[in-house]
Amino acid sequence: MDHQPQPEPGPVQDFLNVEEPRRDFFTQAAALVTGTVLGVVPLFAGVAVFLDPLRKRTRRKDGESTGPEMEEGFLKVAAIDGLLQGGAPRRYEVIDDRTDAWNLFPKEAVGAVYLVREGEAGVRAFNVKCPHAGCSVDYKPEAACYQCPCHDSSFSAKDGTVANPNSPSPRGLDELDVKVVDGAIYVKYQEFQPGTSHKVPEA
Ligand code: FES
Repeated sequence: MDHQPQPEPGPVQDFLNVEEPRRDFFTQAAALVTGTVLGVVPLFAGVAVFLDPLRKRTRRKDGESTGPEMEEGFLKVAAIDGLLQGGAPRRYEVIDDRTDAWNLFPKEAVGAVYLVREGEAGVRAFNVKCPHAGCSVDYKPEAACYQCPCHDSSFSAKDGTVANPNSPSPRGLDELDVKVVDGAIYVKYQEFQPGTSHKVPEA
């Protein structure tokens, strides 16, 4: 019967016995680091793609803001030449970028206003939403007032105050801040809570 020669006990064999577990440790550590890198890099890439619309929105607002638009929340709504001095109010949509959770919807109608021109450069803006419950009011040229189709509130065409004392609306139409710059009308578009006697901005 053959017998495999057994290594001689001594310092060399002791060294080999210690070196074997050490090699296992380094192999496992290298595998752990490699696995972590391979897992984390795609994760960060996914998070970056996930947040991309918001990053783009921030970049655009920081990098391309000019004039009152963007800087103070004013949005360009119309050219002043489109309004006659002392003429009837005109309805305009307000266009802005809109975000919904993580999505960016560029250049969408976010609301509407009536613009009235007073004098050479004076313009007044009223949110079209009725302060009673938020329906959109219509301008009635024959009565020279704004009329709400939902519960019949009416508002003065001149200054937006409640025209008919029987109107259920607790306040007049919500007037908005306006700037006229280089022939363009900018409106600081805001919405206010319905059903209150004072203007309370929506959160
Ligand atoms: S919503 Fe306008 S009167 Fe009620």
